[in-house]
Amino acid sequence: MDQYVIKGGNPLYGEVEIGGAKNAALAILAAAIMTDETVTIENLPNVRDINVLLQAMEQIGAKIERVNAHKVKINGSFIQDVSVDNEFIRKIRASYYLLGALLGKYKKAAVALPGGCDIGSRPIDLHLKGFRAMGAQVDIAHGLVEASADHLMGTHIYLDKVSVGATINIMMAAAMAEGKTVIENAAKEPHVVDVANFLNSMGANIRGAGTDVIRIVGVEKLHKTEYSIIPDQIEAGTFMFAAAATGGDVMVKNVIPKHLEATTAKLLEVGCIIEEFDDAVRVISNGRLQRTQVTTLPYPGFPTDMQPQMAVVLGIAEGTSTVTESIFENRFKYVDELTRMGADIKVEGNIAIINGVKKYTGARVNAPDLRAGAALVIAGLAAEGVTIVDDIYYIERGYEGFETKLAELGGKIERVSSERELQKFIMKVS
Ligand code: EPZ
Repeated sequence: MDQYVIKGGNPLYGEVEIGGAKNAALAILAAAIMTDETVTIENLPNVRDINVLLQAMEQIGAKIERVNAHKVKINGSFIQDVSVDNEFIRKIRASYYLLGALLGKYKKAAVALPGGCDIGSRPIDLHLKGFRAMGAQVDIAHGLVEASADHLMGTHIYLDKVSVGATINIMMAAAMAEGKTVIENAAKEPHVVDVANFLNSMGANIRGAGTDVIRIVGVEKLHKTEYSIIPDQIEAGTFMFAAAATGGDVMVKNVIPKHLEATTAKLLEVGCIIEEFDDAVRVISNGRLQRTQVTTLPYPGFPTDMQPQMAVVLGIAEGTSTVTESIFENRFKYVDELTRMGADIKVEGNIAIINGVKKYTGARVNAPDLRAGAALVIAGLAAEGVTIVDDIYYIERGYEGFETKLAELGGKIERVSSERELQKFIMKVS
């Protein structure tokens, strides 16, 4: 099994290019099959979850032409089968987007119940509530969600909880339903807006994405489009926190600074200097970090997907900080790993109380999920000595060329696949 091996203690310096947003791309790929014409998608991140979804789409008959690593052409006119179940799709959360896309277009779909990162119970009741409200019959049997409707009708849907996935899924189905759908208490994340813009570029009629009320007037047909996915705010934020933790100076390029406001605000609070440009953000840290408090919230609040990376920074900040996780119930699984690197963190319910230590010390740790894995890599880069991160499979779900980008910034990190390679790296850096 591949691992990352890291020799910490080198501040990161230089420039890094951010790729397309994974969580926008997953929904946009699924939505691309809603027309029979060919859709071209650019700025696609070349990461595992994306490739798994493309494989699943190919299996049901969609024609996928990978123009290059970051560009794909999709034609959904050959789809014969609306049942999606393979061993891969069960592992990715975003498989549920095929439900909304297929239901919207064909008025029926059967998709394996989604898996994804284990960060707590992750129900999809709100997605199903939305489909049912539009008149679909929805059943769960044999590990599949089956949905079908004679007529998918526009309606008024109130989401009891702000959910990115439910908002996008309902929006997709409603784009081809009869009449008007109103989603209230909708998620406002940048990728919700990106998916709405994408669907509108295919001829959908969606207004209000980015606010908490989205209005969709269903259309009979969608058409071809060429679309470029927005930059990944979480990848960007991850590099910003890596700069902060290592006392570095990094220009994070190809971003939308507005999407990073919560991250920027917290970095300022901990004592970093931030310079904003039209499509870049520079983070300068002298390594002396201050305590602060943070609570994860739906956008524009501080993203749950940045919570572990923030905690890693606070773990070496002066004083006692708190991190409150209000979105997922089990997103502190990295704490035990970080403790092995010398962190002083106590978790009480959904609050982590972090007493800053002077430095982390290298250790062998496991990536428990995607973002926590990335956070442990940041800790390794800031630590004294050598850190080995196992289970990097998780990190590869959502970060393209993570170790390459970090190494280009001066981080001493390598991906190794044998004990021999590991020892070679250690000899080289010691
Ligand atoms: C998306 O998950 C992202 N995944 C997650 O990113 C991200 O952490 C999350 O949004 C929050 O921003 C994808 O886009 C593929 P939610 P999603 O529905 O859509 C509850 C990453 O690391 N809820 O907004 O599954 C739910 O339990 C991943 O890239 C219900 O109760 O998240 C949670 O408490 C991890 N019923 C809250 O809502 C439902 O039907 C928000 O979840 C749906 C959700």
